[in-house]
Amino acid sequence: MNGFVRLRAGIDLRRIALGAIVAAAVTQAVPADAAGDPVRGANVFKRCSACHSATADTHSVGPSLRTVANRKIASVPGYKFSPALSSLKDSWTPENLDRFLLAPQQYAKGTRMAFTGLKKPEDRADVVAYLQSIQKKGK
Ligand code: HEC
Repeated sequence: MNGFVRLRAGIDLRRIALGAIVAAAVTQAVPADAAGDPVRGANVFKRCSACHSATADTHSVGPSLRTVANRKIASVPGYKFSPALSSLKDSWTPENLDRFLLAPQQYAKGTRMAFTGLKKPEDRADVVAYLQSIQKKGK
């Protein structure tokens, strides 16, 4: 009987520990998504809008970002990307957007995006949340 009680306690402790590990992993995986404010992000996006549209599918200096969230890197039709971006076999997850926007030239050496980066983590999180929100609206 005593052994049974100890066994049950052991399982419960392990379950609690596992839950904590899973919770920690989830919070680390999506820092941009967790903290971002799309309304503030729309304001940050003014620094991108000289080169990007977020509301139309038209490209200008840079490609349209209306459907960029989770899109394959350098895949939107009608825009000619540099080899620096088109050679990357990945998608614009919140984490990748966050890393790219911190320092575009470090993330994709030779990219034609002439932008030094958003140094403040909250600016990056907000603009990523904004890009996700416009895509969810869909058109
Ligand atoms: C001076 C112009 C300019 C500014 C400002 C600029 N970009 Fe860009 N961006 C570009 C160009 C040009 C490309 C294509 C780069 C290439 O092909 O190497 C690009 C590419 C991108 C891509 C990759 C798109 C895809 O479909 O793979 C993302 C994401 C992006 N920009 C986000 C932003 C965000 C967010 C901002 C503002 C914080 C911003 N850019 C500011 C010119 C700019």
